[in-house]
Amino acid sequence: MDYSNKKTLQDIDVSNKRVLVRCDFNVPFDGEGNITDTKRVDESLKTIKYLIDHNAKVILCSHLGRPKGKVKPDFSLRPVAKYLSKVLGKDVKMASDVVGEDAKRVTSELKPGDVCLLENLRFEEGEEKNDDAFAKKLASLADIYVNDAFGTCHREHASTSGVTKYLPSVCGFLIQKEINVMGEALKNPKRPFVSILGGAKVSDKIGVITNLLEKVDTLIIGGGMAYTFMNALGYSVGTSICESDKLELAKDIMAKSKEKGVKFLLPVDNKVGKEYSPDTEAQVVDADKIPDGWMGLDIGPKTEKLFADAIKGAGTVVWNGPMGVSEWERFSSGTTAVARAIAESGAVSIIGGGDSAAAIQKLGFADRMTHISTGGGASLRFLEDQPLPGLVSLDDK
Ligand code: 3PG
Repeated sequence: MDYSNKKTLQDIDVSNKRVLVRCDFNVPFDGEGNITDTKRVDESLKTIKYLIDHNAKVILCSHLGRPKGKVKPDFSLRPVAKYLSKVLGKDVKMASDVVGEDAKRVTSELKPGDVCLLENLRFEEGEEKNDDAFAKKLASLADIYVNDAFGTCHREHASTSGVTKYLPSVCGFLIQKEINVMGEALKNPKRPFVSILGGAKVSDKIGVITNLLEKVDTLIIGGGMAYTFMNALGYSVGTSICESDKLELAKDIMAKSKEKGVKFLLPVDNKVGKEYSPDTEAQVVDADKIPDGWMGLDIGPKTEKLFADAIKGAGTVVWNGPMGVSEWERFSSGTTAVARAIAESGAVSIIGGGDSAAAIQKLGFADRMTHISTGGGASLRFLEDQPLPGLVSLDDK
């Protein structure tokens, strides 16, 4: 999919206009209501500051979590308004509803350069249903729509799709950066192009594997989904996660890699545990020797080296998905090793959102990556080369 013809903020005049900006402020919180990872909010600042500097009346909106159409105070965006007020150095007014009386009042009182934030879009049933009446109400608050919520572009919701029927619709700087960097890496990769895919299931990554097989020089498979491939090779995988209905597909993928001359790497050893528990008894075994009753929870040290060596000489690296149960310290070594190898490779490095992005941040390697996507599901869809409704619906130049 090519989105290079989509209108951007710079293609329109925003001065004195009410501009509705769809952001992805779906951020994690600690028990005291503090944001524990502000990346998504920070990445949206460029667009917000541009609008302030160009005298727009800025109306921010986002979802947070999955309150399923009900007003749930725990899912309020108020802490985000507080954080934005701090980093922008100006009061970001919070509306207590989405399209109700308070939203109408707050948005109508905005002066050029002012900023407000609407309450969680998913407090409204019409949001996820892409309900036309709700989309129309949302649009009626503004003159222009800017989508800067890359992380939500794979959702066809009222605030990402429906609203574009009623307003001139363009993309913001965060989305531009995501599609330019990832698009360029896929279209014109510096070679060798190495992709590392992990995570639990083959079924979640079929589209990505199929698309990347056409482009990469090396495909590395780790994480839970590796056990389906290992089983397809005839190895016994004990009680490891294994999708028996995907064995033929795994065989086809490996055959296709061979046919295309793509180097295909699987774990050669694994750290296995007795149970799915952070404290379980554990041992390292070769990939073809997983004992009955044991499950793979991480890649082993020989695999760490194998994967790191493949990453070392790469020109471009795309990584999505952890190598093991990376949230458990004892089974996070493989994910750390991959993150370190990418950081040290000097390659153009693209990190899909979600768990791999979190691992990179936690290890302090974020500054050494070319691009860490703000989207989990959305970046996967992008890597699959499948249409993203939130991008498709924007105006063409
Ligand atoms: C994400 O966190 O991936 C996006 O904000 C989308 O959230 P969702 O999966 O609840 O639609």
